[in-house]
Amino acid sequence: MTEHVIVTDAGGIRTIRMNRPDKKNALTLAMYEAMTAALESANASDAVRCVLIAGVPGAFSAGNDLTDFLNAVQSSGGLDRPALRFLAALVRCSKPLVAAVSGVAVGVGTTMLFHCDFVVAGTDARFSTPFVSLGLVPEAASSLLAPLLMGQRRAFEFLVMGHPLDAPQAKDFGIANMVVAPQDVDAEALKAAREIAALPPGAVALSRGLMRGATEELLARIDQEAKIFSERLHSPEAKAAFEAFFARKR
Ligand code: COA
Repeated sequence: MTEHVIVTDAGGIRTIRMNRPDKKNALTLAMYEAMTAALESANASDAVRCVLIAGVPGAFSAGNDLTDFLNAVQSSGGLDRPALRFLAALVRCSKPLVAAVSGVAVGVGTTMLFHCDFVVAGTDARFSTPFVSLGLVPEAASSLLAPLLMGQRRAFEFLVMGHPLDAPQAKDFGIANMVVAPQDVDAEALKAAREIAALPPGAVALSRGLMRGATEELLARIDQEAKIFSERLHSPEAKAAFEAFFARKR
């Protein structure tokens, strides 16, 4: 259990709120575990018709906690299992996923959105995937989903060159459905979740399944990326980038 993820159910909507504002919702292993459990139990619950993933004002998520990456470097480990289980749970989630994005969405804070069905972004949202400048490679099947979503050249600019996107650009790139004032993000996302929850659940599940296709390809890509990502964690490029991040305020 962690107080950094708050899970609530109301009106057929399960809200999974990342709640570690002092660290911009950087995701710890415990947070991944809590989010995985909430997604997996949503699948098993007829009462849950839609899942809403949210953050705090100014931070959807700063991505994986870089301390865990540094620990992995020091312990000869790879991409941690809780992170991988979370990604698999996203792929296997049988309920529609809505996201409410205010503020920073970095790394997995953005790539998890590629698995969501409806994304509301605040005008303060900023999306970035600095994998390559950290010496790493894209994860969460983003190497497959981003080119499909936005086209090869825009995906290259975003995932490899690491150019960040503001909210209107993210809408243009197909990452977000709508852009609203920061204070309206949660309410608009809840409105969309309620609309989805009010639809006939069987028809929603079947339609969504048809649109998403087979999960095997996504899971295989997540594994393929994770192997390379884990090797890259031990590269001198990655180690230097993590250390530089934590040294920047000293
Ligand atoms: N892992 C660990 N700690 C993180 C973090 C991360 N991914 N992102 C932010 N934090 C911590 C900072 O170290 C800081 O902690 P401190 O107050 O104890 O020093 C706190 O969260 C606030 O971050 P700060 O950098 O001061 O906020 P900011 O508004 O200036 O910048 C970000 C926000 C997200 C742009 C910046 O923190 C950042 O670039 N984080 C790293 C993102 C990243 O590379 N993620 C991994 C992608 S694979």
